[in-house]
Amino acid sequence: MIPDEKVQEVRERSSILAIVADYVSLRKAGANYQGLCPFHGEKSPSFNVNPAREIFHCFGCGVGGNVFSFVMKIEGLTFPEAVKFLAKRAGVTIEEHPPTPAEKKRQDERELLYKIQELAVAFYRQVLVDDAAGEAGRRYLAGRGVDAATAEAYRLGFAPDRWDALVRHLERKRVRLELAEKLGLVRRREGGGGYYDTFRNRLLFTIADLHGRPIGFGGRVLDDSLPKYINSPESPIYHKGEVLFGVDLAKQAMREQGAAIIVEGYFDHLALYRAGVRNAVATCGTALTEGHLKLLQRYAGKLYTLFDSDSAGNKATLRAMELVLPAALPAYVVALPAGEDPDSFLNSSGGEAFAERLAKALPIFEYYFRDLLRQVNPGTVEGKVRVVEELVPRLQKIANPVERDLYVKEIVRVLGIDDRALLKKIGASLAPAPGPAQTPTHRREGGHSTEDLLLALMGKYPEVAVKVTEYGIAKLFPPSLVPLAEAIARQSAQRDGVDWAQILDQVMAPEERSRLAALFMDDRHLEEIDAHKAFEQCCQSLQRATMHEHDAKALKRELAQLDSDSERYWEIIKILDSLRNRKSQLL
Ligand code: CTP
Ligand code: MN
Repeated sequence: MIPDEKVQEVRERSSILAIVADYVSLRKAGANYQGLCPFHGEKSPSFNVNPAREIFHCFGCGVGGNVFSFVMKIEGLTFPEAVKFLAKRAGVTIEEHPPTPAEKKRQDERELLYKIQELAVAFYRQVLVDDAAGEAGRRYLAGRGVDAATAEAYRLGFAPDRWDALVRHLERKRVRLELAEKLGLVRRREGGGGYYDTFRNRLLFTIADLHGRPIGFGGRVLDDSLPKYINSPESPIYHKGEVLFGVDLAKQAMREQGAAIIVEGYFDHLALYRAGVRNAVATCGTALTEGHLKLLQRYAGKLYTLFDSDSAGNKATLRAMELVLPAALPAYVVALPAGEDPDSFLNSSGGEAFAERLAKALPIFEYYFRDLLRQVNPGTVEGKVRVVEELVPRLQKIANPVERDLYVKEIVRVLGIDDRALLKKIGASLAPAPGPAQTPTHRREGGHSTEDLLLALMGKYPEVAVKVTEYGIAKLFPPSLVPLAEAIARQSAQRDGVDWAQILDQVMAPEERSRLAALFMDDRHLEEIDAHKAFEQCCQSLQRATMHEHDAKALKRELAQLDSDSERYWEIIKILDSLRNRKSQLL
């Protein structure tokens, strides 16, 4: 935890204009500065910096925030990391609370582990580059057409065909081998003392974290023997659920293109890289996790799965679908001819054929649906039932109701079944679940919610802030906005007005921060508004919306009494669904 005063100090000493200018070329336009957005590809500038308010916003892709949000997004850092990054730049020293002895021990050990992994990378690299023991590795790479520059970019290495090559090297460097064992680089000899090398006679891919720091290896045999790969185990510096191979090489391209391609294997990644496709990452034999998706979402708003065209690949696609549908993350499937993987396909068919396949990628649900139709005979009752049974649980996972609705229509059309039957099956799970009370949300289509407008008004007009405070902040705002509203109310009366950049630090969800940055960017539109009238309207509208929530409760009670064959039942399901959607839009 970095103390608030420090965060404040770093923010005040880091001019957003100067920081952004390191990444974006900016031009003055009125009170703001404009440039090409670094977070999505564009030809005319919609990225704006407001130097007075110390915030930025892109009207093209909607991202926005303060100097910390900018650095987090562009450097791929967490909040504390971004604060430290800027502190260093601004010459602010952050004395972190003195670590407890246990923390200190863990930190020191992690640092050592990074160093040891780095030593191992350098050792195996040197073997591959110019050691006699690396000849087999060099021949293998040549056979697969991998040149020295690519080997360098991937920090490929070669583990000699010996039991103690690394052990001896580490001993010479005075490394404690029990630490190397924690990284899975060496293993303890059974019975007797001493250690032996884990990787022997294998080509090594260096697995690195977001910042390019080596954290593990994937080691391939040179022939057909098994296991084909040996991978570093989980360790204090390698958490498989959060690391994707190649992310350090891909982050820039993922950001520029707004899309990420996920492949299964190291060699697939390498083949794409050589073909000039730079926005790819590989899962390396582990199943895709939510942690992986979170990582990718820091860079890209869209995913492509590019898995092997075999049963393992199909399973991986299905797994990806289970994750992206609830996350409402647009995902597409790039299909390859049967039996091919991206590496073999690029080798046999070339980059242009690949680009065509990429362009023809299908939305993941559609791909899955079509695939299902090929597996059964949809002309028979049995086939239709089978398809519906498979589809329903997945349809229920689609977070976007419009999308779900469109798929329902499509499925009904293709299978020639009654839509009410399908809706009924899906609806069973959409029926009222006794969950936590919904927070009122009143977001209007495309624009800002009434709460948002009220926040802006409070910032501009201290008298509105006073009124809102008197009326009761908690009565008007959902819990997530209460601390923000309170801070704005406090600052509104100050001589310097509201510190918008500081306010944004209190907003944890990036989407919410972007939305509010857009709102706070410019308050000229508020000038045409009669502040008092607007306040009254806000109060009324918020009260009305709270009433909708009460309605929802009543509807759920009514629903419980109804037969699912009645018209009214479906009417209520629809209303509840739309209320729920309004909620998910804000989350
Ligand atoms: N994998 C693994 N352990 C295995 C087999 C595979 O960890 N025993 C992982 C590796 O990350 C591998 C990926 O799964 O890269 C895909 O496996 P596969 O398609 O068999 O290997 P490729 O990387 O395609 O290697 P190659 O092109 O040499 O066949
Ligand atoms: Mn493969």
